[in-house]
Amino acid sequence: MTSLKGRNLLTLKDYTPEEIRYFLELAAKFKKLKKDRVPHDRLKGLNVALVFEKNSTRTRCSFEVAAYDLGMHCTFLDPKASQLGKKESIADTAAVLGRMFDGIEYRGYGQERVECIAKYAHVPVWNGLTNEYHPTQILADIMTVQEYFGDEKGKKLVYLGDARYNIGNSLMVGCAKLGLHFVVSAPKAYFPSPELVAECEKWADESGGSITMSEDPMEAVEGADVVYTDVWLSMGEPERIWAERIRDLSAYKVTMDIMKKAKKDAIFMHCLPSFHDHETELGEKMGEIFDIADMEVTDEVFQAYRDSIFDEAENRMHTIKAVMAATLGYED
Ligand code: CP
Ligand code: NVA
Repeated sequence: MTSLKGRNLLTLKDYTPEEIRYFLELAAKFKKLKKDRVPHDRLKGLNVALVFEKNSTRTRCSFEVAAYDLGMHCTFLDPKASQLGKKESIADTAAVLGRMFDGIEYRGYGQERVECIAKYAHVPVWNGLTNEYHPTQILADIMTVQEYFGDEKGKKLVYLGDARYNIGNSLMVGCAKLGLHFVVSAPKAYFPSPELVAECEKWADESGGSITMSEDPMEAVEGADVVYTDVWLSMGEPERIWAERIRDLSAYKVTMDIMKKAKKDAIFMHCLPSFHDHETELGEKMGEIFDIADMEVTDEVFQAYRDSIFDEAENRMHTIKAVMAATLGYED
């Protein structure tokens, strides 16, 4: 395989199945090194910038810990405390950062923003989540599937909820490229765009996977290896559409009845953060307004599947480390 040095990771659409598997193999090696406390700081002297226009816990911590483990320094840029977007365009900011840093992570709004950074920075740029895609999340998800089942190929992954956004889109791309059977279960209006489905169907044909859309959640999860969901309202979407989302998506909540339809050894995954109780400001507020105990997943399911959910969260760090290492020329 040709080196990935110098490449951006804006979406998994730009990567071959072989390249995606390379990231996953490298992530597994890094995970072992970390567990064995073997230093792997071969990128000493490099610097990375982390630009977050939206909040983050996992992605930011993953980039920071991974950068430090690799021997790099990182600088966090919060738009509130920088010129980005207010006094300086994304293109000019990217040109500046590209002169100082060896790689740039960006989390924000439209995909065109991360593409603009990649165009003007001339160093590897990593998408830490846009409205359309969240590629590093999907690497962690597939790594988790590999850990639980040995191999991701041929596994049935059912995604319930709003499948038109970053997680639904990216999961469909990743599953199609790696030969999983990807099933969306949602009302028709929440299916991914027909254009993206058509692209993914081609990759699924090549990999032996498949793409299916179903409005019937019970039928969709029959025999699933993995049941996956995400929040019903993503960062940046207006709170006034909560009522509409609760009305449209409540039938697609992951409950124990849903999990019973999946295979006996099925796992539940969630990119997190999740609304499964009232232990957050928003959860409490939504609970009061709509008189609901949870949203996309019940607390019963969440607590029963904590292992797979938090393995997945941990794997964010190992996979992000692999992405930075491979694109910055880490010699394996
Ligand atoms: N899953 C995920 O991206 O989490 P954060 O928003 O905390 O980074
Ligand atoms: N769809 C969610 C994913 C969070 C990791 C959001 O964009 O807020």
